[in-house]
Amino acid sequence: MRLSARAQAMSPSPTMAIDAKSKQMLAEGIDVVNFSVGEPDFDTPEHIKRAGMLAITEGHTKYTPAAGTLELRKAICAKLRDDNGLDYKPEQIVVSNGAKQSIYNAFMVLLDPGDEVIIQAPYWVSYPEMVKLAGGVPVAVNTDESTSFKMTAEMIKAKLTPRTRAINLNSPSNPTGAVYTARELEAIAQLAVDHDLIVVADEMYEKLLYDGAEHISIASFGPEIKRRTITVNGMSKAYAMTGWRMGYCASETVYAKAMADLQSQTTSGPSSISQKAALEALTGTQAPISEMRTEFDRRRQYMMERLNRIPGFAVKVAPQGAFYLFPNVAGTLGMTVRGRQINTADDLGQVILEQANVGVVPGSGFGAPDYLRFSYATAMERITEGLNRIEALLREAR
Ligand SMILES: Cc1ncc(COP(=O)(O)O)c(C=O)c1O
Repeated sequence: MRLSARAQAMSPSPTMAIDAKSKQMLAEGIDVVNFSVGEPDFDTPEHIKRAGMLAITEGHTKYTPAAGTLELRKAICAKLRDDNGLDYKPEQIVVSNGAKQSIYNAFMVLLDPGDEVIIQAPYWVSYPEMVKLAGGVPVAVNTDESTSFKMTAEMIKAKLTPRTRAINLNSPSNPTGAVYTARELEAIAQLAVDHDLIVVADEMYEKLLYDGAEHISIASFGPEIKRRTITVNGMSKAYAMTGWRMGYCASETVYAKAMADLQSQTTSGPSSISQKAALEALTGTQAPISEMRTEFDRRRQYMMERLNRIPGFAVKVAPQGAFYLFPNVAGTLGMTVRGRQINTADDLGQVILEQANVGVVPGSGFGAPDYLRFSYATAMERITEGLNRIEALLREAR
């Protein structure tokens, strides 16, 4: 049996793998605390669920246009205008099966074989894989605490080659929670314009901000950068709608048309039912977002303080967005925990899962081998329990 070179070059998502292992242990009756999940633990708000149910009873159960319904694309235009100061027409919007598909579509229509895409590391695990699937070459810009996990325009400039086609930007970031300031974004926008690069701006976590951080869309710095930006967003994180699979992007018509054509030949339009629910999410009350955000903030502060008390762990930069903490665990390397030597953060993740029954994601999949990712999209009691277990385990270490 032979797989294509494309399939062989692909790595499975490590976050999904840990999540699957944790769920398998749970199914075996083991009480696992799962910090690996990248989805809000809250239920989809009632009014959104009702809109989905109504869509079914009213018969909105047929194919929609490949780019999504006109009413939803109009609502997305209104959202982008009101929240982000971006003026788009419905034909510039493509609604997809989650933001994941939007990002994949973007690379598929942008890249020719060998085209390079700048990606800030630590990165969301899927960016490099999607770039490779589209025939491109991911080029990581490594960041750490010294620049608060953000790449500067100078760092990007140092990686440019004649093959550089795009910059992938993710603010607020998964896994670090870094949020770019207006000044930082403006410098990157200028660089993109000067070198005629496209920016794929993943703004999935824009609503989950802390410590007074502000979200700014890079496309809002003027017509030159807007022309070169594909802005990606979706319903999963802000509205606790991961399973509905609703994402979208906004771009110049030429890119939007190509992405809609790609969808028309591969997946067709996304679910008609989910589109009705997404319409309600965008046009109905926004109150549930701030309730979720307040709770996430409470957990973030608690978890950060507790992680900093665990031997060998350090959260040196407070995340300003999303729902993850990304402690540096280099201080644990060389320790022995229950007879097992910790040589890498991957070893540590495994020991924590097997000995403390807590699921965390090793940083290696995010291009940051000395870190672990903790999601705080889990109830407070479970956070306390999981951290108690890890702290007790690491206090035994020698
Ligand atoms: C940074 C980032 N972008 C995009 C996505 C994809 O979201 P979805 O496909 O559920 O819309 C995720 C999900 O984990 C993410 O963390």
